[in-house]
Amino acid sequence: MDSIPPPSPRIAAVIVAAGKGLRAGQPVPKQFTPYRGSSVLRIAAENLRAAGVGRIAVAIPEGANELASKLLDGMTDITLLTGGATRQESVAQGLEALASDAPAVVLIHDAARPDCPPAVIERLVEALAYHAGAIPVLPVVDSMVVARDGVMAQNAEREKLRRVQTPQAFGFAAILAAHRDWSGGADAGDDAQVLRAAGYDIALVEGDEALRKLTYKEDFVTASLSVRMGSGYD
Ligand code: CTP
Ligand code: MG
Repeated sequence: MDSIPPPSPRIAAVIVAAGKGLRAGQPVPKQFTPYRGSSVLRIAAENLRAAGVGRIAVAIPEGANELASKLLDGMTDITLLTGGATRQESVAQGLEALASDAPAVVLIHDAARPDCPPAVIERLVEALAYHAGAIPVLPVVDSMVVARDGVMAQNAEREKLRRVQTPQAFGFAAILAAHRDWSGGADAGDDAQVLRAAGYDIALVEGDEALRKLTYKEDFVTASLSVRMGSGYD
């Protein structure tokens, strides 16, 4: 591809890879499992780098330094750090690890969504010309309901709902300050919520089905099948 931008010191990323991956039931946390002839974590990092991202801070579980270093061997401008007990804490640690670099833009990304098309990153960064934050979303196709004690409590208006993905893009100074000021509890859900609570508008850009999050055991069976059949994103 001739349109790949060179890595930019202005655009950094935090990859959160410090979870336990309990629902995936793999022998090691899902971000460290083999994937597309490499590993989930490395593919996630390489896709960000291929889209022009400079330094990448990777939050990993306590004690996973050796494994993560091995999986990312040969990649430059990677900072490994120990994450926290919640995703939000892992993000906050990752942002602090980038603070001395003071990049203009940071992408915050789940390691568990390794297949990031460069076009999504282009859309996110473009949207930051007018907004402090931008997130990729997709429409909801099924009807949605609010459940309460096993019965339908009320209908939800599908047309107003979106599925939210990562990477999410932010002005670095704004999201760092918002995380430092956040008083909404230990698990914010996502970083857009943290920045919105600080009073900023968040732009919605088109996401991509390729960014689905590897979550359950079945997702890993599907992923290895799609590699064998050559139908995965690349
Ligand atoms: N994550 C993290 N630190 C945590 C919890 C989660 O960095 N304390 C990361 C995960 O590694 C993953 C992303 O946040 O890349 C999204 O979280 P999720 O899909 O829930 O992963 P896990 O928490 O690892 O999985 P599970 O909830 O099934 O245990
Ligand atoms: Mg989790």
